[in-house]
Amino acid sequence: FPAGCEAHRGALLHFLDDPDNEPDPRDGSLDYFGDGLLVVLNGQVLATGPAEDLLPQLPAGTPVTDWQGGLILPGFIDTHVHMPQLGVMASYGAQLLDWLQTYTFPHEARFSDGDWARAEAQRFTDLLLAHGTTSGLVFCTSHPASVDALFEAAESRGMGLTAGKVMMDRNAPDNLTDTTQGSYDDSLALLQKWHGHGRQRYAITPRFAATSTPEQLTLAGRLAADHPDVMVQTHWAENTGEIQWISELFPERHSYLDVYDHYGLLGNRTVLAHGIHIDGRDRQRLAETDARIAFCPTSNTFLGSGLFDFRTAREAGITVGLASDVGGGTSLSMLATMAEAYKVCRLRGQTLTPWQAFYLATLGNARVLHQAEQTGSFRPGRHADFVVLDQNASPALNMKQAHSHTLADTLFNLMILGDDRAIAATAVAGEVRYCRPDGATVTAP
Ligand code: GUN
Ligand code: ZN
Repeated sequence: FPAGCEAHRGALLHFLDDPDNEPDPRDGSLDYFGDGLLVVLNGQVLATGPAEDLLPQLPAGTPVTDWQGGLILPGFIDTHVHMPQLGVMASYGAQLLDWLQTYTFPHEARFSDGDWARAEAQRFTDLLLAHGTTSGLVFCTSHPASVDALFEAAESRGMGLTAGKVMMDRNAPDNLTDTTQGSYDDSLALLQKWHGHGRQRYAITPRFAATSTPEQLTLAGRLAADHPDVMVQTHWAENTGEIQWISELFPERHSYLDVYDHYGLLGNRTVLAHGIHIDGRDRQRLAETDARIAFCPTSNTFLGSGLFDFRTAREAGITVGLASDVGGGTSLSMLATMAEAYKVCRLRGQTLTPWQAFYLATLGNARVLHQAEQTGSFRPGRHADFVVLDQNASPALNMKQAHSHTLADTLFNLMILGDDRAIAATAVAGEVRYCRPDGATVTAP
């Protein structure tokens, strides 16, 4: 290894491919080293392997951080989350449409204040890191300054985010709506400013069909057609009241999905949040267009939206990601999100293996965002974005780990019992950006 590299030592796990959703992971779908080494050069992964093989190959004096007792994984990726909704979490007693009107829209209106937007964007990115999340697909608000604020916060932490300005020109308060042409102009200017700026990427972001006029959706579709490497994100089929409203707003379209299809918003760069109340025809069209679904379990249970049908989506060949959907969701933790996803699957008579859950939160979500060449695994050349998990982080974990003996058990314990306490440290492009304040069992040198 060349001079200038650094290394991190601990148990090391990453996925090379979809492990499937059976008790045993598919052969060759992951690499695990009980005493592993992650070798980093210039913020990128140079190599992974057993520590005993790689340590002798390091040049003398190479710094080795020993995360003894910790499990090193690629940093978590969140495929649907709202930067301006931290303060909306835990809003009592409403379903989607009331929740938007009562809590969410008034809160998002505060982001017209640039100072507030900058402070919240910094708080948001710091909290992502404290929850082990190093990347994601993010909604800002309709205010262009909220997008600048988020990308600036991400950039100063070395993180790569995909994010966009919400387009919404109807059915919301005046202090939040944009204009049809203004939303196009602002989105284009932000796209040109931020897409491909370092690790940042833009996403065309019509909020959902109910808050966009047909003209705005037309312009969103034009942006997508003109910029085929830019992601598109929106909400879809979350709540039965929402779906009814869409059918009234777009009577000429045969389904909610057909609205997005009609305006040219379905393709392999599209991520649709939720997709709960859907049918076989919808699934077939998603598979044909390779549009993706972000499964947001804590949001779906919290708002009483419904239970996403994970198995049927997988069987239909749809690419599914896992997402927090804060602030409809109740935690930025992808561990808590995996736990809720497991419970949603159980309530549908299905399952979610720890292999599949951790795959989704890392390489699977990177694939959803077309970022698997950049992040989501420790294949050489990827950004060294990683999280160190502490499987003994809480009394409950500690107790359970005392009689758990396999990696599958440890992963399952972490996903069911873990939360931000289990995040010992988070690194972005090889730089440790978060380290648990109390230190506890995992110690950095
Ligand atoms: N549908 C439209 N906007 C939103 C939002 O902010 N959160 C959720 N969960 N659903 C939405
Ligand atoms: Zn959302």
